[in-house]
Formats: sequence, C-alpha cells, structure tokens
Amino acid sequence: MTGRLNDSFGRTATDLRVSLTDRCNLRCSYCMPAEGLEWLPGQDQLTDDELIRLIGIGVHHLGIEEVRLTGGEPLLRRGLVALVGRIRALGDIDISMTTNGIGLARSAAALAEAGLDRVNVSLDTVRPETFAQITRRNRLEDVVAGLAAAQSAGLGPVKINAVLLRGVNDDQAGELLHWCLERGYELRFIEQMPLDAQHSWSRTDMVTAAEIRGWLGARYTLSPAPVRRGSAPADLFSVDGGPGTVGIIASVTEPFCGDCDRVRLTSDGQLRNCLFSRDESDLKTAMRAGISDEELAQRWVVALGAKKAGHGINDPTFLQPPRPMSAIGG
Ligand code: 5AD
Ligand code: SF4
Repeated sequence: MTGRLNDSFGRTATDLRVSLTDRCNLRCSYCMPAEGLEWLPGQDQLTDDELIRLIGIGVHHLGIEEVRLTGGEPLLRRGLVALVGRIRALGDIDISMTTNGIGLARSAAALAEAGLDRVNVSLDTVRPETFAQITRRNRLEDVVAGLAAAQSAGLGPVKINAVLLRGVNDDQAGELLHWCLERGYELRFIEQMPLDAQHSWSRTDMVTAAEIRGWLGARYTLSPAPVRRGSAPADLFSVDGGPGTVGIIASVTEPFCGDCDRVRLTSDGQLRNCLFSRDESDLKTAMRAGISDEELAQRWVVALGAKKAGHGINDPTFLQPPRPMSAIGG
C-alpha cells in the first residue's frame, strides 16, 4: 500500500467511478442535446490494459474498495464482459455499474458470471411517450427487459436512478415508485444537477428533494429507513412500513459533499476528485510517457489532496465544469 487517498477535509476516497466511454445510445434532455455530442477521439480512450493498470494501482496501492463502471453508456464499451473479469481478478472489491439498461437483457448473465456485483439502471418514467420525450428514443421496452434480466442474473439489489423534470415527469413520482415496489427494484430520485452539455439547468426550474418528499408523502407513508447514511448519498425511507424503500438524493439542495468518498477516472484517462471539479490530473499522458506505478499512485494522492470542500453549486461564483456528465460518469 502506497497510501490512502486523503484530502484536507478529513475525507478518504475509497470508491472509484470509471467512465468506460462518453458515448450513449440515448439523448436524455438533462444530459445531451438532441444531436448528441462530439465524442472523444478513439486514440484518447484508455485501452483495456491501461484501465486495468490504473484500477489496479487504485486497488493495490491506494485503498480503493469499490469500483463503479459508468459512461456515457458503459454497455457500449467493446469487450466489457472480459474487462469486468479482469477487474474482478484484481481483488475482493465491490464492482457495480450504472447503465441505461439498453442491451442489458443480452449481457446481464455474462456480466454477473464475470464478477459484476450490482447494477443501477437509469429510468425516469414507465410511460413510453414520456420516455421518448425525455430520452428522444423509443426504447422503454429494452430498459424494462434489461432490468428483469439483471434481477434474474443476481445483479441486485437492482437500483433505479430517476431524475424528475418539471412539467415532463414530475407528476409521475408515485407511479414510478409503485412500479418499482411491485418488482422489488430500489428507486432513488436524484435532483437534477448543472452538468448537461447544453447548460440548460436552471435553479428555479429544478425539482427539489423537498417537493419529491411531499408528492410521495401524499400517497405513501415514508419513514426514515433504519440504515446509516454514511457516504451513500441517498436519504433512504421505508415505504408504508417496508420492506420497500425509496431514496432521495438531494445533491443540490442538501449537499452531502462532507461525506464524499469518491474519485473519478474518465475514459480518456483524466483523474477527477469531484463531479464538479474544473481541474483534472492527466494520468493518460503520464502513463503513455512511461512513468512508474509509484509515480502514478503519487499523482492520485496529490490530485485527491487538492479536493475542495464541496461542489459550490450554491455559491454565486459557481461555474459548471467544462466536461459534461456523459464524459465524467455518474
Ligand atoms: N443531474 C442529475 N442526474 C443526472 N444524470 C445524468 N445527468 C444528470 C444531471 N444533470 C443521472 C443519470 C444516471 C446517472 C449517471 O446520473 O440519469 O442515472
Ligand atoms: Fe445517456 Fe445517461 Fe446521458 Fe441519458 S443520462 S443520455 S442514458 S449518458
């Protein structure tokens, strides 16, 4: 062990989020413009060997205990099953994936077999027309099939991430929860954050956690669930006495930065100490120039040492990071 990824505010990063690609087959309005984005060039993407080297340094030298695969859409990465197998071989870590679920029906069993532990699937509505309106694609059925496949493959507890948009699906919180409870999926609502490529986020428009609690409370009895929140951002409630639960992630209105244990690696090899950071540590260039594992580990330690206290969304001077969510990973 070289060291721990400590910052100057007493936090230690143990949860590594790895973006495997910035591409996606959906165009969620809170993430991308209809025409998509200019994808990162292929030669800038880390190869499987480079990814395994960096994740291995995190796990073996820097105290990383959890690896979450994200995108863009991670299922679009070629050779994903083999890559998961190689991450599994690095050690006894928790491996999860955040996906939009398209194609998961085909690959869930193989991913579980390769060593993936769990999935979080993004789903904002169970109405086909609202799904098409938000994602600009008619793929609700694929996501529903992917969820079922994930559950049968043992990739659970299956969690669902939902973003509510005012005037679009903000009338569907209860309906979505009912659908998830019936199927045994753990639903978590996430407040919309200013991370979209087209900079269309607006504080006055965003749906707040307090509103969501109100809407759900009108239909269900919510009581604080008997689990410690720790560094997990979701405020968890049991629904009508349990065992069903719902989580509400108030990233903007009730930030949980003080408990953050995350560090992020982009698919083009940039280490980020925060979703919102405006600085990155360029591990790819360093690695391709031939630096040693020890030097790479030292760069991680330095990058995490510079982590700020919080995301600063609520400061008047807040500036959205230049890199959009789809190129950072959730
Ligand atoms: N605000 C909140 N959540 C977002 N996601 C994508 N963009 C945003 C945003 N601007 C969610 C996706 C996915 C996860 C990676 O983050 O819906 O579930
Ligand atoms: Fe794709 Fe996720 Fe962005 Fe939707 S939010 S466009 S699924 S990367």
